[in-house]
Amino acid sequence: MSLLDAVLRKGLPLEAALATATRGLDRPDDRAFAHAIAAETLRRLTDLDDLIDGATAKRLPDDAKARFALRIALVQALALGTPAHAAIATVLPLLDGGPRRLAHGVFGTLMRREARLREIPTLPPAVAERWERAWGADVVEAAQRLLAVPAPLDLSFAPGGEPASDMEGFSLLPGHFRLAARTAVAGLTGFGEGGWWVQDVAASIPARLLGEGGGRLALDLCAAPGGKTMQLAAADFRVTAIDSSESRLARLSDNLARTGLVAEVVAADVMKWKPAAPVDAILLDAPCTATGIYRRHPDVLHRVRERAIVELAETQQKMLGRAATWLKPGGTLVYSVCSLEPGEGETVADAFLAAHPDYALDPVGEGELGGKVPIVNGRVRLLPGTFAEAGGADGFFIARFRRH
Ligand SMILES: C[S@@+](CC[C@H](N)C(=O)[O-])C[C@H]1O[C@@H](n2cnc3c(N)ncnc32)[C@H](O)[C@@H]1O
Repeated sequence: MSLLDAVLRKGLPLEAALATATRGLDRPDDRAFAHAIAAETLRRLTDLDDLIDGATAKRLPDDAKARFALRIALVQALALGTPAHAAIATVLPLLDGGPRRLAHGVFGTLMRREARLREIPTLPPAVAERWERAWGADVVEAAQRLLAVPAPLDLSFAPGGEPASDMEGFSLLPGHFRLAARTAVAGLTGFGEGGWWVQDVAASIPARLLGEGGGRLALDLCAAPGGKTMQLAAADFRVTAIDSSESRLARLSDNLARTGLVAEVVAADVMKWKPAAPVDAILLDAPCTATGIYRRHPDVLHRVRERAIVELAETQQKMLGRAATWLKPGGTLVYSVCSLEPGEGETVADAFLAAHPDYALDPVGEGELGGKVPIVNGRVRLLPGTFAEAGGADGFFIARFRRH
């Protein structure tokens, strides 16, 4: 309950809330189950609340403890396969008196009615309205359909690498492999040898747009945990990877050590740091609302409001402005965000070009990504409908600029 409270009332990311809220749980299995319950509750929140509201005479306030407890019991019983008596037994001890009797009664009513969750989850109305305004009703529908199925597990291979013979799946782009079933990554063949790393196919596109490095210098700004750093290093760039988060950089260093790839790693704030000399290529995978990864991190569906979009777009604009001064003439700058908000990607890219006459869009060619990735006005835009028949991909915006 504290996990949900941290996300829904305090506006914290689920990952951040996990670290504190599950401190009392010693077994990794218990922590994983608490995470699974919270994530599935956030994916199904609109429909869970509809069920609860359909079984209460007077609407429970959004922050009522009984509502939180009912969401958790219902999601276990209706989505996670927990027997009903066990599901309600886990939450009743969290309540006293009236709320406890109420939760027990509402849960019993819904079980007697044989209540079911919708097969296709309903997005929170504010998100559905925002995405419909930006992209249309079809994209909202596609986003809801994807919410019903687990996000895929994708691997990126260093050049020359290929999936082990016991890996079942398929490839959407060169060097990419989507596993047919989600599984523990550390148990996969080749994990120790480090010929691959986990990376959604969409997240692999920004670094692809920089091409082969041929020993040239690249900066990977906002680099951790390092999927794109590894791609750049594997493509023969001499990479400096910068990030302000020490803990995320520790994962980046582990990833480099496991894959045997090389990059200089710098812990710094890109709003203060600057390189000693101009470079050939820059990748700015900027901090953003992350609404493009709503399936993996469903907390974004409930935390991200208009204000966060505006504030993060301003941060991206400032970071791009700094990065623009670090590139050699003729060099390439790629800007990406895993966001489904045009106020971040599209608007920021337009504003950058308007403010930097020494830069021009370097349009992504139709054939450059195998003709499989949507390109709008020379920029890459992945929406929930992209690769839908293959299980979807993270939502991303990517633009490539060249300095005159
Ligand atoms: C979208 S994630 C980067 C993902 C990474 N590029 C990858 O492919 O694995 C954004 C990153 O920006 C970092 N960040 C946020 N603000 C920053 C700043 N002012 N300076 C440096 N890094 C920052 C965060 O720590 C986070 O790791």
